[in-house]
Amino acid sequence: MSTVTAIFTPSELAARFVSARQRTLALCEPLTAEDMMVQSTAEASPAKWHLAHTAWFFESFVLTEFLPSYRLYNQDYPWLFNSYYRSFAAFPEKRLRSSFSRPGLDNILRYRGYVDAAMSELLERNPETEALKRIELGVNHEEQHQELLLTDILHAFFTNPLRPAYRDKKTETEMAEVEDSHFPKSKDRERDHPWARELGFLEFEGGLRKAGHDGEGFCFDNEQPRHRVWLEPFALATRLVTCGEFAAFIADGGYNRPELWLSAGWDTVTANGWRAPLYWTESEGGWSLFTLHGEQPLKLMEDCPVSHVSFFEADAYARWAGHRLATEFEWEAAAEEQPVAGNLLDSGRLCPAPAPTEELLQNEDTAELAENPAKQVESPTQLFGDCWEWTASAYLGYPGFKPLAGSLGEYNGKFMSGQMVLRGGSCVTPTAHIRASYRNFFAPETRWQFSGIRLAR
Ligand SMILES: [Fe+2]
Repeated sequence: MSTVTAIFTPSELAARFVSARQRTLALCEPLTAEDMMVQSTAEASPAKWHLAHTAWFFESFVLTEFLPSYRLYNQDYPWLFNSYYRSFAAFPEKRLRSSFSRPGLDNILRYRGYVDAAMSELLERNPETEALKRIELGVNHEEQHQELLLTDILHAFFTNPLRPAYRDKKTETEMAEVEDSHFPKSKDRERDHPWARELGFLEFEGGLRKAGHDGEGFCFDNEQPRHRVWLEPFALATRLVTCGEFAAFIADGGYNRPELWLSAGWDTVTANGWRAPLYWTESEGGWSLFTLHGEQPLKLMEDCPVSHVSFFEADAYARWAGHRLATEFEWEAAAEEQPVAGNLLDSGRLCPAPAPTEELLQNEDTAELAENPAKQVESPTQLFGDCWEWTASAYLGYPGFKPLAGSLGEYNGKFMSGQMVLRGGSCVTPTAHIRASYRNFFAPETRWQFSGIRLAR
């Protein structure tokens, strides 16, 4: 645990713990008990499982070690709700999680309450530093599962023939209130008035730089050690690639031109019959996109960032456009000086949004600009939030990487093979969860996360 730094006092951490636990339950409010049982793809888990597994994490890695009076809620839960920690306990096959009709949802909610009460008792006892570090890790783990819960339910609802919306009409009204003023209201938009800023490139000097977490505040073990990297001069796109731009790639035969694709990418495209990003459906009326707000016509989403593309699609698009994807270190160099602000889970939008235009950026109130320099014209927008950005970097340990001690060493380190790094968080990433050094990672064919494209050259 030595690579994770605790920054909170026990009372601050208690508040953060309570807030994270409540948010997980709040995200389940629009769901029925039946919704919470669905596991529609091997990559996803049922919402009910997420509720149980996040309680399991605190029980397994905090309470049983640091609260002597703690008794397990149920003797079977340590293995039943283990995800992948082989040195901790055996666990059921992931694909069977939708078979967990027992224990019932009411039992899982009681389990969460039982764990929360024990955590409250522990936090009141002024626990040792190591316990505080574990709790902070558990809160960050809970936040990761909040994002997964939403991406998993998006997939579940997409596979439901009724294509239900996660947000019902009542909450759509609330949505309008939190929507930033410079985001277009769908019904007001016209194509002759673009809402996304023009695609440009911003130049960055190369040279010897440092990458990785600097030691202040929480980070996962895979963000350390901070180390030197050499960057050639590079340029990053001012914003993410939009749905409209990606539609041009499709119209140009992008999915039928093997010369644009990596070999493994072409094999994946042909084996799966891909013709568009995940959640895109073509009908007589044209393309539509399935979102957490239900089905949306492409014509209303053209200026929104394209999402739910694999690394292979991101790479092929970049080649078609005459550019490339950034490395994770180029991305970090650009993001490091920027505040963590953007269309993240806290905005409540739950969908990637257009990048504000130059006109809107220039008209921004100067006080707001000082507060949020990411909005300045000379900075890339959308670095944080909207979509995770596929990078050209393979997910590997940094020089001198040391996984956490014990079973928690399995958290990140054992996946350092065959995966690519994504940066920046998405519209369903909690704001408190993301930072410039944060490294997400998925296999290159993965599409069910909010994953998008930023060009580089
Ligand atoms: Fe987990």
